[in-house]
Amino acid sequence: MTGKIYIVGIGPGSSEYLTKKAIDTVKASDYTVGSTRAIDLFDDVKNTIAFNVKELLDTLRQGVQLACDGNVVSILSTGDPGFSGVLNTVLRLSDELDFPKENIEVVPGISSLQLAAAKCHIQWDNANVMTFHGRENIEDILPVINNGKVTIALPSRKVKDMAQFLLDNGVEADRRVVVCERLSYPDEKIVEATLKDIAQSEFTYMCIIVIY
Ligand SMILES: C[S@@+](CC[C@H](N)C(=O)[O-])C[C@H]1O[C@@H](n2cnc3c(N)ncnc32)[C@H](O)[C@@H]1O
Repeated sequence: MTGKIYIVGIGPGSSEYLTKKAIDTVKASDYTVGSTRAIDLFDDVKNTIAFNVKELLDTLRQGVQLACDGNVVSILSTGDPGFSGVLNTVLRLSDELDFPKENIEVVPGISSLQLAAAKCHIQWDNANVMTFHGRENIEDILPVINNGKVTIALPSRKVKDMAQFLLDNGVEADRRVVVCERLSYPDEKIVEATLKDIAQSEFTYMCIIVIY
């Protein structure tokens, strides 16, 4: 008997941004796989399998295997699973383990990028939306950074390094930048400054950068 996999977006972090669909899906699942932080958002959850970043792949494989064995499994992803989330990885593992694609359902979540756009009052259909998370494609920002649209991005490395990269590649030092850090958490911070100032500031890894 084949089970079912739900890839569930949990929003940017606060339970206020969890959807009812996410809550109901987790409640009805036999197993829930995710980071401790993600699992802790749910009150009604049966068997949990927590992972840290180092063992992410093995734990996701374990989740897919449980679905192959006939269980209903929720795999939690920060924000939306389809934006720098676990969607592609779970699809690849399911393919490897011959789990049928028609038994996989994605439950969308509110992306941190959407929340950053909302906080900054940006109509993001006309923005350069980019992710450099876990990638080495930082150069891809250069062809668009001066195209007249606001750029909203998940940084690849430290925010200050990304700002310095832009300065080194000729972007004006007084360019307006907003850094949205730990959105929806009690210690959320939204900092507006010049590119030069951002290149000299420290932020955690949990940031969205907006470049005007
Ligand atoms: C693995 S990616 C996940 C992105 C997620 N799928 C989404 O749609 O927001 C993790 C990165 O997303 C960004 N991020 C996630 N949650 C955030 C939050 N609450 N505030 C600011 N940035 C956040 C940070 O850049 C973080 O390094």
